[in-house]
Amino acid sequence: MRIPKFIQMILLVVIVFLVFKFTIRPQIPSSLLSFYMMIVIFAIFIYVISDSQLLQDFLKPLKSLLVVNENKLIEESNREIRQLIFAFLPIFAAVFTYLNMAVDAKAPAELRSIHPAPPLQIRFNEKPIRIEGLKNPLRSDTANFDKYVEEGAVIYFENCFFCHGDNLDGNGHFAEAIDPKPANFLDHGTIAQLQESYVFWRVSKGGQGLPDEGTPWNSAMPAWENVLTEKQIWKVIIYIYEAAGVEPRRWDKKPK
Ligand code: HEC
Repeated sequence: MRIPKFIQMILLVVIVFLVFKFTIRPQIPSSLLSFYMMIVIFAIFIYVISDSQLLQDFLKPLKSLLVVNENKLIEESNREIRQLIFAFLPIFAAVFTYLNMAVDAKAPAELRSIHPAPPLQIRFNEKPIRIEGLKNPLRSDTANFDKYVEEGAVIYFENCFFCHGDNLDGNGHFAEAIDPKPANFLDHGTIAQLQESYVFWRVSKGGQGLPDEGTPWNSAMPAWENVLTEKQIWKVIIYIYEAAGVEPRRWDKKPK
C-alpha cells in the first residue's frame, strides 16, 4: 500500500523531531528546537510546491476530507473523521490555552525576604524610638541580669509560648494552625543572626509592622506594643536569647 504523501510528510516531521529531541546530546534548548522544526517544515513546504503533481498528491487527503465531492454526497466515513477532527481542534486549543494560562496551585517560590531591613525609627505607642544603633538597655545592668532573665521567662510563658513553644522551637499549641510558622528561636537563621534592636522592632510591631517588600506576609505574630511595656519587651528578649543559648548580633564598632 502506498502511504499518501500527506502522511509521509507528517511522518517525516515527527521523525526529524524525535531525532533532534532524543539523539542530540547535550539536549538542544526548546526554542532552538522549534526554530529547527520551522526550517524543516519550511523545506518540506518548498519541496511539495516545487512540483504540481506532488502538490496534488499532497493535498488529496485534505481535499477528500474537507471538500464535498461534486458527484457523490459527503462520503460517510469521511464525515465521521471530519466531525472528529473539528470537535478535537477546539478542544485541543482550549486545553492548550488552559494549561498555559492556569494559575499554578503550588505555593510561589520562597523569594520573600524573611528578614527585611528594619525601619530606622519606630513609634512605640507614639514614643519615637531610634532602632538604628539601639542596644538592649537592660544588658548594662549586669547586677540584675539574672532577675531580668527570670522575669523575661514569665513574660514569655504568659504571652509567647502558645506559638513559639515551651522549648522556643516554634512548635507551640497554635503553630499547626498558622502559616508562616512561628519563628524557631533555636534555628540559627532567626534571633542568633539578629540584633536585639531588630528583635525589639519585630516584637513591638509584629506581623502588621512588616514592610511591603516580600509580601504577602500573612504573619500571625502580634504587635506587642499594645500589651507589653518597653522594659518587658527588653526582658523577654533577654530571656529568649538566654534560653536559646545564643548571643545577639552586635552593632559594629565604628572604626576609629
Ligand atoms: C499568635 C502566635 C504568636 C505569638 C503569641 C507570638 N508570636 Fe512571635 N511570631 C509568630 C509568627 C507566626 C512569626 C513568624 C512570622 C514573622 O516573622 O512575623 C513570629 C516571629 C517572631 C519573631 C521574628 C523572628 C525572626 O527571625 O525574624 C520574634 C523575635 C518573635 N516572633 C518574638 C515573639 C515574642 C517575644 C512573643 C511574645 C511576647 C511572640 N513572638 C509571640 C507568632 C507569634
